[in-house]
Amino acid sequence: SKARIGLVGLGVMGANLALNIAEKGFTVAVHNRTAARIHEFIADAGPLAERLIPAETPAALAAALGSPRAIIIMVKAGAPVDETIAALKPHLDPGDIIIDAGNANYEDSERRARELAAEGFRFIGLGVSGGAEGARHGPSLMAGGDASAYAEIEDILTAIAARFAGKPCVALLGPGGAGHFVKTVHNGIEYAEMQLIAEIYGLLAQVEKRRAWDIARLFEQWNEGPLRSYLIEITAKVLHALDPVSGAPMVDVILDRAGQKGTGRWTVIEALKLGQSPLMIEAAVAARAWSSEKDRREMGAELLPAPRHEPAPPILDADLERALIAGRVIDHAQGFALMAAASEAHGWNIDLARVAEIWRAGCIIRSEMLDDIAASIREGLPGGLLIFAPYFVEMLEEAVPGLRRVAAGMILRGQPAPALGAAIAFWDSMRQARGTAALIQAQRDYFGAHGFARIDAEGEGHHGPWAEGS
Ligand code: 6PG
Repeated sequence: SKARIGLVGLGVMGANLALNIAEKGFTVAVHNRTAARIHEFIADAGPLAERLIPAETPAALAAALGSPRAIIIMVKAGAPVDETIAALKPHLDPGDIIIDAGNANYEDSERRARELAAEGFRFIGLGVSGGAEGARHGPSLMAGGDASAYAEIEDILTAIAARFAGKPCVALLGPGGAGHFVKTVHNGIEYAEMQLIAEIYGLLAQVEKRRAWDIARLFEQWNEGPLRSYLIEITAKVLHALDPVSGAPMVDVILDRAGQKGTGRWTVIEALKLGQSPLMIEAAVAARAWSSEKDRREMGAELLPAPRHEPAPPILDADLERALIAGRVIDHAQGFALMAAASEAHGWNIDLARVAEIWRAGCIIRSEMLDDIAASIREGLPGGLLIFAPYFVEMLEEAVPGLRRVAAGMILRGQPAPALGAAIAFWDSMRQARGTAALIQAQRDYFGAHGFARIDAEGEGHHGPWAEGS
């Protein structure tokens, strides 16, 4: 009998996704470029092997599937996806469905949706979050693409997705690249949240010289309160772990250079194209880039003077928790504002409350707070901004002063706080009905006669009384 769905790419994510699908009762035809891996995978699958059909070639994969075919591609993002599609296409029929489940750039998904549609095929760009564990036992799934295709595989996606209060964390969010765009922003928010946590850790470990296990206990404690989330939880676990080689805390023997595969950077690039600036995500991307400039920082440690000892009030642990709370809300506020702008610009009509709902379980940024975020978005965000929602205005009344004290205290102590600083800068900017851009406008007019709007008159083309400009 025919398999219900196909899957190409048996790396960790693809293999786990295939096992998840098989476990939910669907037969999966699996293909991998190196055929040996297919048999090794099935041999290791235990009782699930009976629902896995090996397909050594694209032709065999196509032959193993019922009509219309649905094939998940889980290979490295970029050219390998196009190569895989090209290898499959000769064996497919009109109406067949290709699902790219990698971390694709949304523009690639838009292009693939277009190109495949022109040839009669259907495409879904599927954002998958939750890492290897999520793929195996319940990821958050952000779909974009053809609605009829989605309807045909919805039962599978619903069966394999994570659940929050019984509700599956999967949705069709819009056409073409909408799902991958949302996944990209998810990762951007993830970057900023991780950076926030790292900055707080930096203060505790590097300024206060507290030991990893002691810091771990704080994170454990925070995970029992309003900060409860996957990233806070794993931070505690990571900080508890000891290096089997040296016996030292694991984190102390890891080189301080952060990797990145691109999604955080893409979030910033796409944001800037839309005239948006999710400053916390920008700061997180910057911090990863600076972290990788290890040689330069070693030079800087020699060349640049340490801060003079400034009188600085002590920083309370309770304020660290408040800073993390405020930082998380502002991070999400910026991420959701970006998705709203993109949805508007592309005509995607993304249901942002739904996005928050399917992030409540399965994904890396899952947190209790996302349930409140979803509720606030459903009620309608004043000015389209999460920090204006009554629920969060109230929460931030106490949290933001903590953020302010922590960010200021870290600057006074010479401890880098790019994401915390970005958070408070955004907050204070949004609080100012009148900012300082009048001076920028005056300067622009002075050196380039660019013109400005006046507070007391119509039009944009007013000029100042400066000699050069007039
Ligand atoms: C997820 C993760 C996942 C992956 C990222 C990490 O949602 O499951 O975000 O997609 O871990 O690729 O990205 P970097 O390698 O850029 O940190």
